[in-house]
Amino acid sequence: MAGNRTFTMIKPDAVQDGHIGAILDKINAAGFRIVAMKMTKLSPEKAGEFYAVHRERPFYQELVDFMSSGPIVAAVLEKSNAVEDFRTLIGATDPAKAAPGTIRALYARNVGENAVHGSDSDENAAIESAFHFAVTEMF
Ligand code: RTP
Ligand code: MG
Repeated sequence: MAGNRTFTMIKPDAVQDGHIGAILDKINAAGFRIVAMKMTKLSPEKAGEFYAVHRERPFYQELVDFMSSGPIVAAVLEKSNAVEDFRTLIGATDPAKAAPGTIRALYARNVGENAVHGSDSDENAAIESAFHFAVTEMF
């Protein structure tokens, strides 16, 4: 059975471009409840750890540099079928290929600086939520 929580980050590009409010509006309008949220900045070490699954990929260093380049907004979101429905809401990794109206189509700069992160499985949603939030910070 699909789980009901996912983890997201509003990435440094979207924070810098002033899209926090618009992205949170889209998240609310799509029926997600905010379980936890904070604005923070990842160190290069933390960004590298978060995306460790991609360490063999050619874009890894670029991704770590970007994700540690400025503040982010991290959040845990709740809704039925959360992981899949959130990935539908954000659209394809490359905003040029993202469906019209999706968060990445509207607010991302390019395939690397693509506005938001969304967990890709229930297991990773739980791991990523615990990476950023203590149990006492999730409501
Ligand atoms: P995310 O994990 O951030 O939600 O993104 P995703 O699942 O859609 O894409 P993934 O394959 O997990 O890639 C993670 C992030 O790496 C950057 N990337 N850059 N330059 C490139 O070709 C490239 N490909 C991926 C993006 O920031 C992507 O979201
Ligand atoms: Mg991913």
